[in-house]
Amino acid sequence: MSVIGLGYIGLNVSNVDAWKSWASDFLGLMAAPSSPSGTQRLRLDDYAWRIALEPGDKDDLAWIGLEVAGPDELAMLRARLEAGGVAVEDADEALLAERGVVGLVRCQDPGGLGVELYYGPTHLTQTPFVSPVGARFVTGSQGLGHVVLATTDLAGFRRFYLDLLGFRQSDTIRMAMGPSFHIDLEFYFCNPRHHTLAVAPLPMLPPKRMHHLMVQVETLDQVGFALDRVGPTNTTLTQTIGRHSNDKMVSFYVATPSGFELEYGYDAIEVDAPTWSMARHDRISSWGHHRV
Ligand SMILES: [Fe+2]
Repeated sequence: MSVIGLGYIGLNVSNVDAWKSWASDFLGLMAAPSSPSGTQRLRLDDYAWRIALEPGDKDDLAWIGLEVAGPDELAMLRARLEAGGVAVEDADEALLAERGVVGLVRCQDPGGLGVELYYGPTHLTQTPFVSPVGARFVTGSQGLGHVVLATTDLAGFRRFYLDLLGFRQSDTIRMAMGPSFHIDLEFYFCNPRHHTLAVAPLPMLPPKRMHHLMVQVETLDQVGFALDRVGPTNTTLTQTIGRHSNDKMVSFYVATPSGFELEYGYDAIEVDAPTWSMARHDRISSWGHHRV
């Protein structure tokens, strides 16, 4: 496979200070040094940064960074995208410095989301990650976490992420939206994380392209401690604790300062690519995850 993980994301947020303090006090992320252009960034691990908070009025996901192994893989992927009719541009020196990576090209997915393909991110081994609340995040070979997006063009979405970027589908969930309407959610993987990307095919685009961002912690207690921080940090719980049917993650959902949701979970299964076969589920959770 070509892409090895979701390395970073860029959020367009209307209140950077609110995001920064919520990310620290509730999520347990660590503030990172600002980027060369002054953008506030957040750390989940020993990478220099994982989440960038760009000031703006969209309060939505603005771009994603998908990591590849090195220059050969980047060149191969770039050629595949261009052969598939996707316009790809090289990063200039300023963008390379801004992201802190060795090589980068960028393009857009069929929904207009900025997609950066890169290799050689910066590690800060001299200043190890220390969570202000003692959280430890599952990243490494599984990347930052997962994002769930909406599309009105499932064929285009599949072509871009599966055919061109090399993701594989882990499974599908049929979700009832009423007595006579359902949607088939699709889940895509590119490393042992059950899904790095999931997509909801909808008849109309919702106001935000990002449904939720998921971060995973190492223990059930860390999920419990986070639940206990909901009240003291004035965070809005949006879905109760539950276990998902497909990746088996035990998690709960809250509203971020931007309004889209964040899933805080642990205990997800991992995909073994050579032996994995797709499954279909007819509900999203085996228990819990009730809307608040
Ligand atoms: Fe999720």
